[in-house]
Amino acid sequence: MTTIENGSGTRELAGKRALVTGGSRGIGAAVVRQLLDAGAQVLTTARSKTSTVPEGATFVEADVRTRAGAEALAAAAQEVLGGVDVLVHNAGGARPHEGSSAIPDEEWQDALDLNFLASVRLDSLLIPGMRERRSGMIVHVSSSAVLTPIGPFLHYTTAKAALENYSRGLALELASLGIRVNAVSPGRTATPGGEQTREQWAEVSARMGGAPAETNADDTPPLGRDGQPEDIAHAVLFLVSERASWLTGRNLVVDGGEFPMG
Ligand SMILES: NC(=O)c1ccc[n+]([C@@H]2O[C@H](COP(=O)([O-])OP(=O)(O)OC[C@H]3O[C@@H](n4cnc5c(N)ncnc54)[C@H](OP(=O)(O)O)[C@@H]3O)[C@@H](O)[C@H]2O)c1
Repeated sequence: MTTIENGSGTRELAGKRALVTGGSRGIGAAVVRQLLDAGAQVLTTARSKTSTVPEGATFVEADVRTRAGAEALAAAAQEVLGGVDVLVHNAGGARPHEGSSAIPDEEWQDALDLNFLASVRLDSLLIPGMRERRSGMIVHVSSSAVLTPIGPFLHYTTAKAALENYSRGLALELASLGIRVNAVSPGRTATPGGEQTREQWAEVSARMGGAPAETNADDTPPLGRDGQPEDIAHAVLFLVSERASWLTGRNLVVDGGEFPMG
């Protein structure tokens, strides 16, 4: 891994305190690894600890879907880090169904809680400290699927679309306080969650009587391969670094060229 220095011989995120949700595997674990490599102190969370939580990070169990989970996580961040300079909302996902009407109420609620409201709640608890320090970097992980919303995933893409709109508004609200807020939208990325979702999608698609183009789980992006978690983490690291100090309110789509207009 290339270590990026800040020009004075120190690693570019040395002294920064970072919180990453969903860092036990996949994209979140890659973000944690790259933050550690850049010199940040990192706290991460998931509902349970696994062997793939990167070494060097502090792990705390929390479910970000509830207000109580967000409060426990914010308290842990205060205790372990003493404050949060870099906040990466990565935990997310949802199970596909046979069209929007087949999505049960509780899964709509769950998708909104995990993919949208978790960020709103945790931001509301951690932004006051950033306001006081007049600095902070926040990244919301969305999805390129927002660009082609389809029935089986409407609970997920609707929640992520809300997240993107919220992220832009928050960026404008906080810009004058020195707090930058951006989003990253991955395309299909090889992660445990991504693979499981695509398997479920293929099954749902088969039950729906075939694979219409927009539900084809086998499309390879134009750059000829699926994304790797590190591809997405590079974008997140750029956005929280000083190299992006004049960048806020943006959504960086990292998708191997699948949606060139995104
Ligand atoms: N992979 C893709 O193709 C792809 C494409 C577009 C967007 N994305 C987005 O990228 C982000 C990461 O996806 P991924 O593919 O890396 O997912 P993943 O492999 O399923 O990992 C998700 C991480 O989030 C944690 N998590 C899930 N629910 C949680 C909860 N309620 N509270 C706390 N932590 C929770 C998981 O641990 P536990 O399950 O133990 O809690 C795990 O650490 C998500 O927001 C996803 O929507 C992914």
